[in-house]
Amino acid sequence: MNDNFHNNIIWQKHSITRIKREYKNGHKAIAVWFTGLSGSGKSSIANFLEKILFQRKINTYLLDGDNIRSGLCSDLGFNVSDREENVRRLGEVVKLMLDSGMIVLVSVISPYKYQRKMICEMLGKKDFLEVFVNTPISICEDRDPKGLYRKARIGKISDFTGVQSKYEPPESPDVLLDGTDSLEKNSRKLIKVLYSYKIIPFY
Ligand code: ADX
Repeated sequence: MNDNFHNNIIWQKHSITRIKREYKNGHKAIAVWFTGLSGSGKSSIANFLEKILFQRKINTYLLDGDNIRSGLCSDLGFNVSDREENVRRLGEVVKLMLDSGMIVLVSVISPYKYQRKMICEMLGKKDFLEVFVNTPISICEDRDPKGLYRKARIGKISDFTGVQSKYEPPESPDVLLDGTDSLEKNSRKLIKVLYSYKIIPFY
């Protein structure tokens, strides 16, 4: 790809803007970015939260690391640069979804601080709610819902997060959830945060 290619791309402005969509929806858009170990409960909490928001007629979409990796990111593995590209692509998808006025729930390990910082900068701080699902690795490993920790321990998977590959917890996430609390409790906590940030009109 040469410079000329990028120089010849000009952003197309549309009449229907994010602000108009948000107004029509009756709520604001934001990315709720769940980070945490595999088995920490990210996807379960995001799924539970989405059900509540859906019932309250909030427009949401849940982007899940495993699902995205079976399509858009199926060409990527788990080394550092592939994980970076995985998260970058997710960030670009989230950007479009924010423009469409949705609350986007993203459940992805995103193990490195620099990756999450990159996404925060890409989306802008006010559009990025970092939620750390804090669950001790011993509990994630006991849960082992997909049998992947077991496989990693016997060397059948390499680069597994928490085993051969590091997870850097956020130092000051916007929301800290205890992954051993109930889905209901964690979802309610997030709903209150969304309300207090004036993203949704109820709690
Ligand atoms: S990330 O590190 O690039 O953010 P992502 O959330 O997309 O990871 O994918 C993680 C999911 O892929 C895990 O929930 C697990 O099911 C699966 N997986 C397969 N291999 C690995 C691995 N080596 N490390 C972590 N997760 C893995």
